[in-house]
Amino acid sequence: MGSKKIAIDLGTVNSLVMVQDKGIVVNEPSVVAFSRKEKKVIAVGKEAWDMLGKSPREVVVKRPLSQGVIASYRLTKALLAFLMRKALGRYLFGKSEVMVSVPAGLTSVEERAVIEAVTQSGAGKVYLIPEPLAASMGADMPVDKAAGNMIVNMGGGTIEIAVVSLNGLVNFESKRLAGDSINQEIMSYVKKQYNLYLGERMAEQVKMEIGSAIKMKSPLEIEVRGSDTASSMPRMIKLNSNDLVSPINQILLEIIQAIKIVLEKTPPELASDIIDQGIALTGGTSLIRNIDILFTEALDIPVFVVDNPIECTVRGVYKALQNVNYLMRSLRTVK
Ligand SMILES: Nc1ncnc2c1ncn2[C@@H]1O[C@H](COP(=O)(O)OP(=O)(O)OP(=O)(O)O)[C@@H](O)[C@H]1O
Ligand SMILES: [Mg+2]
Repeated sequence: MGSKKIAIDLGTVNSLVMVQDKGIVVNEPSVVAFSRKEKKVIAVGKEAWDMLGKSPREVVVKRPLSQGVIASYRLTKALLAFLMRKALGRYLFGKSEVMVSVPAGLTSVEERAVIEAVTQSGAGKVYLIPEPLAASMGADMPVDKAAGNMIVNMGGGTIEIAVVSLNGLVNFESKRLAGDSINQEIMSYVKKQYNLYLGERMAEQVKMEIGSAIKMKSPLEIEVRGSDTASSMPRMIKLNSNDLVSPINQILLEIIQAIKIVLEKTPPELASDIIDQGIALTGGTSLIRNIDILFTEALDIPVFVVDNPIECTVRGVYKALQNVNYLMRSLRTVK
């Protein structure tokens, strides 16, 4: 029997695992609950997420990765061990081949830590792949050709803008703002306009349910509950999609600016391929309504959102794992 192939998208906000013959078997928040008193990890993933804000004070719920870097090695190890266990069940670990997509901005020390954590969880062979390369493979872009492909991966903590050609990153820029920063902008907008504090989870829900990158003819509406900034009493307000355009654009316009800078630094031959083919958006934040319209107008280049932008990276990792031989140059592995 051959070795089992496991693809892991280690994200700041969500982590996904795809396994041979089974498809995507894990899609859980990248959070770990840790007991300070007992000094041990007590829950990982959804279970840990549900403890957020509801657990006793000695329990801390944390994201092991934050803004595209490893915030805690110990918690990253716990998260990876959990993902591996969920993916494999009782399968013999020694026979597995594991590939993990990591933010392209990780340092080599951080990369080594991820490799060690996966190895310690029992993997037979471990490869790392930069997330933008995996995402562009997941989007079925012709990344193996000598042509320019631009991918903008917009997750929770970071955006990564990359030009990929011949299975490698030609040009790359990352910015530590994305979906989380949009939630923060919505919170401060509501505070300023309505003197109301919104919780972060409520702000995220508002963004997903009615958020739009441009004004809409028939805006969607939502009722939200927050607490009055003066009296601290709970209060309801109505928000519509058009109210949210300005706070959302605080972040989206910065992303557009960053894309322009990368385009300016891209060699002209590759830039002309990008203009022909268009720019692909992936990651959860690309699900904001009308984002493709805003970006296309602002950049004057066609911009499109890939199918299923949240699963795109893990699907690309899986594809890369089936082609490790000719991708070797772009991957990191254990000696
Ligand atoms: N329908 C939606 N509309 C708007 N935003 C969304 C939607 N669905 C998810 N998001 C946002 O997408 C972000 C998570 O995206 P994703 O799962 O791609 O991140 P990640 O891969 O964990 O993060 P990173 O790539 O930064 O490490 C969150 O900020 C979430 O609020
Ligand atoms: Mg991601």
